[in-house]
Amino acid sequence: MRLSLEQIAQFDRDGYLFFSGLFSPEETRTLTAAVPELYARREAYNVREKGSDAVRTNFAAHLYSEPFAKLARHPRMVEPVQDLFGEKLYMHQFKINGKMAFEGDVWQWHQDYGTWKNDDLMPTERAMNVAIFLDDVNAFNGPLMFIPGSHKKGVVDAKHDLTTTSYPLWTVDNDLIRQLVERAGGKNGGIVSPQGPAGSMILFHSCLVHASASNLSPWNRVSVYLSLCALSNHIRRFKRPEYIAHRDFSAIDCLPDDCLLKHYPVELPWKNGMPGSALVTSSEPIADTRKAA
Ligand code: SIN
Ligand code: MN
Repeated sequence: MRLSLEQIAQFDRDGYLFFSGLFSPEETRTLTAAVPELYARREAYNVREKGSDAVRTNFAAHLYSEPFAKLARHPRMVEPVQDLFGEKLYMHQFKINGKMAFEGDVWQWHQDYGTWKNDDLMPTERAMNVAIFLDDVNAFNGPLMFIPGSHKKGVVDAKHDLTTTSYPLWTVDNDLIRQLVERAGGKNGGIVSPQGPAGSMILFHSCLVHASASNLSPWNRVSVYLSLCALSNHIRRFKRPEYIAHRDFSAIDCLPDDCLLKHYPVELPWKNGMPGSALVTSSEPIADTRKAA
């Protein structure tokens, strides 16, 4: 899938693009059907909500689940980012966020690149999030909220929040959020929240400031996030386990557009379990592979 010049200009201005209903219900069902079994697994890659058994985030399913391995190579998700960066991409992070009915907790205001920079030593912001809704998203089930244009600020100040939710994040404080929202139009568009049917896709800049409220509705809000990083911009530190921040910097090769509905062979390297090495972490930077090569 290719972006028009108008879409590229809109992305540059707002920091995100929304594609309502981009994947058909039939395509989306192939993914949704696989989620309960993945969430039921008692594995480190399933992070549960604080004080609840509900899964907040499942990591790295593209390495052990066939439908998600195909999604990770889907041209509708990968090609627009490749075009924007003018470079091949690798998968930095792959998540299936639950935000389950009644239990899904908040995501505080943050920029993803803040965490990738501080924790993973990712050199620049040349990485992108692409989300696909596996459930309908409405005003009540904890939709993502964006501050349009906030990506233009680059990396803003953030604090390492280790307590609010079950997942550590570099979060932005309320005063700065107030200023950014005001600058973006205050009550007139200073916060936006793309909502739509299952199968909708959002592409958003790694410096776009975003958050989501808890889900007190009776409707799940499961969404998949691909975090795609330009090859030259690979992380330089393995401080977080490999199921959270990937260490395989090989380029993603796309499958055909009908890949969710037809059989295509995909590698599933963690099908029989995650290797022990995926849990080994270090606070030291890795050797510079470009010099070593
Ligand atoms: C995220 O910001 O990484 C997740 C937010 C959400 O799923 O609501
Ligand atoms: Mn985020």
